[in-house]
Order: sequence, then structure tokens, then C-alpha cells
Amino acid sequence: MGRARMKIGVLTAGGDCPGLNAAIRGVGKTAVLKYGHEIIGFSSGFLGLIRKEYRQLDELALSGILTVGGTILGSSREKPFKHTEYDDYIKSKPEIIQENYRKLSLDGLVCIGGNGTQKTAYRLSKLGLNVVGIPKTIDNDVWGTDLTFGFDSAVSIAAEAIDRLHSTANSHKRIMVVEVMGHTAGWLALHAGLAGGGDIILIPEIEYSTKVIAEYLTRRFEEGKPYSIVVVAEGITLPNKKNGSPRNVPVSAYIANQILKRTGLETRGTILGYIQRGGSPTARDRIVATEFGAYAAEMIHRGEYGKMAAYKGYKLVGIPLSDVAGKTKTIPRGHTLILHARSLGTCFGDSL
Ligand code: F6P
Repeated sequence: MGRARMKIGVLTAGGDCPGLNAAIRGVGKTAVLKYGHEIIGFSSGFLGLIRKEYRQLDELALSGILTVGGTILGSSREKPFKHTEYDDYIKSKPEIIQENYRKLSLDGLVCIGGNGTQKTAYRLSKLGLNVVGIPKTIDNDVWGTDLTFGFDSAVSIAAEAIDRLHSTANSHKRIMVVEVMGHTAGWLALHAGLAGGGDIILIPEIEYSTKVIAEYLTRRFEEGKPYSIVVVAEGITLPNKKNGSPRNVPVSAYIANQILKRTGLETRGTILGYIQRGGSPTARDRIVATEFGAYAAEMIHRGEYGKMAAYKGYKLVGIPLSDVAGKTKTIPRGHTLILHARSLGTCFGDSL
């Protein structure tokens, strides 16, 4: 059984997404109302823990945030274990974090974030902090969980944007290439492409050929199809860049240029970018984030540290952070969504 009254810290780190406040609310209300614990929220991810910047998350602070986009705590991509040249001269960030954790008399820490956050959480747990992780990202690429919150909202945003591209592509009889986020995985592009009726879906997990893409689009044109939609994951490999550095080069521009050059068909590119991370969470993300938050508070109360809350099917479980750290969940080539999309004639750039 958990301690009588615990003091629990919570932080949100990495790329923000809809649902973060629902998760904070889930953790806080469960801890405060069900168990009578105290909750403090650190500002800007791990930076707040390093700088001892935090606020009390009482019932008032947690009220009215379920549907609010972004994170009331703020976020950052601070990586405390990333060695800097100063570390040899001053106290290292992990040492500062350990010190502040003790100074604040914390009994537990909930880290809400993606791959990088869970890796930092794991390393902090090895230093003796009582840590529980919650998987958050629009990319849905956190190992060990079937689902992250933020993903459903981004799929809905991207699908709605793709719906709009159909009408303008049809007006001009154009090929529209739309670039979606997803970092080095293709989950977002695959789901948004299917939901939005993409004719071609390019994902990092499947090697594409611009020749095949051109032949597929030319065939559609010759069959009298007035326009085509090409959905591209930002993490696909380009000839001059290694896979997985999505933010360096707009892949949609490269693919659009290749299509124009090889087919002569009028083509335009659109990058959805940060719109996919903004605004209020979908109902599903509100529920998923709330469940993760409540479950994480229960894990802390039970003393189930060094683990991340995860969905296995529809069941919530705690999995060791050691299983998650340093891994990325990518799409298996035989995934049913890929097989079924191919059955409907969707092209993944690898075969006609
Ligand atoms: O991890 C979420 C994500 O939006 C990725 O899809 C994207 O590649 C990355 O963050 C962008 O990072 P930043 O917010 O640091 O520009």
C-alpha cells in the first residue's frame, strides 16, 4: 500500500500535443482526490526540475484544463544526461536533479513525454528517483505501448486537412503532396493517409521509388482520374539524407519535384507542420490521456516505480522503463493497415 501522504512531482517534456493537460489532470485529481497526496508541477519539462521552477497543482489549478491544448506546465527538449563541456567543472544536471528531488522531499515523479523523455526517466530511476512514465507523442512511436495520447488528435487534424486538399486538387486537376509529422516512424502518415483517402502513402518503413510513384500517378491520369493525393511522412529517406532526420529537409518538396519532373503533371506540396500538435484534444485523446494519468497516479501510490503506463490492447499495464528506453516503435511491414490499404489499391511507392 502507498504512503499516507505523498508529495509527487509531474512534468511534461518533449514536443507538445493535445491531451497533455488531460493527462496532468488525470494524475493530479487521482492523487489528490483519491489518495490525498500533494502534487507539484515542474515548468518546461526537466528544466523545471533543474531550476526548481514549479507550482502547486491543487484542485483549482487542475480545474477546466481537460480540453485545453498544449501544456499548462510548458515543455522543453532538455536532455539532462546529454554531456556538456561544463559538466566537468560544475555539478552535472543529473546531480542537480537528484539534489532538488531530495530538497523538495519528493516521494515520486511522473514524466509525461515521448521516447527521449522515457529514456531520461529510466536513467533517473537508475539514480534512485521513484519515477513513472506516461507515453505522449503525436508520432505514436513509443515502444511497448499500442497507443500514445496526442496521436488521435494529430490523425484527425491531418485527415481533416487532407479532406480539404481533395477539393482544391480537383478544382485544378493537380497532384497534391502533403507532408505530415511522425519523426522517424510512419504511424501518423499511414493513419492520416488512410483516413484522408490518400492515393499514395510514403512512410519511412517502406522504401519507395520515384519511378514507381510516377508510373502509378501517370496511370491514374490516363484512366481519367482528375487528381491524386500523395501523403508523405517527414521521416522518409531522401537520396542525400539518412533516414530519421525529418526536420532538415522538406520531403514534400523533393517528392513534388520528382513527380513533376517524371510525369509533367501539375503538382503542389503542402507541409502541415505544427498544426498537427495544436488545439484541443479529440474525445479519444482526452479519455486515453485521462486513463494514463489516473493509472500513473495509482502506480506511484502502489510504489510501482521505474515503469511506464502502457496500453496493451485495451488494457492498461506498467512496463519496465528499461524495456522502453532508447527504442522507437516503427510499423511492421505486414501491418494489417498496410495490407488492407494495398487491397484498396493504395500505393506505398514500392510496387504498382
Ligand atoms: O515528436 C513530435 C514531433 O512533432 C515530431 O513529429 C516532429 O518531427 C518533432 O516533434 C518536431 O520537433 P520540434 O518541436 O522540436 O521542432
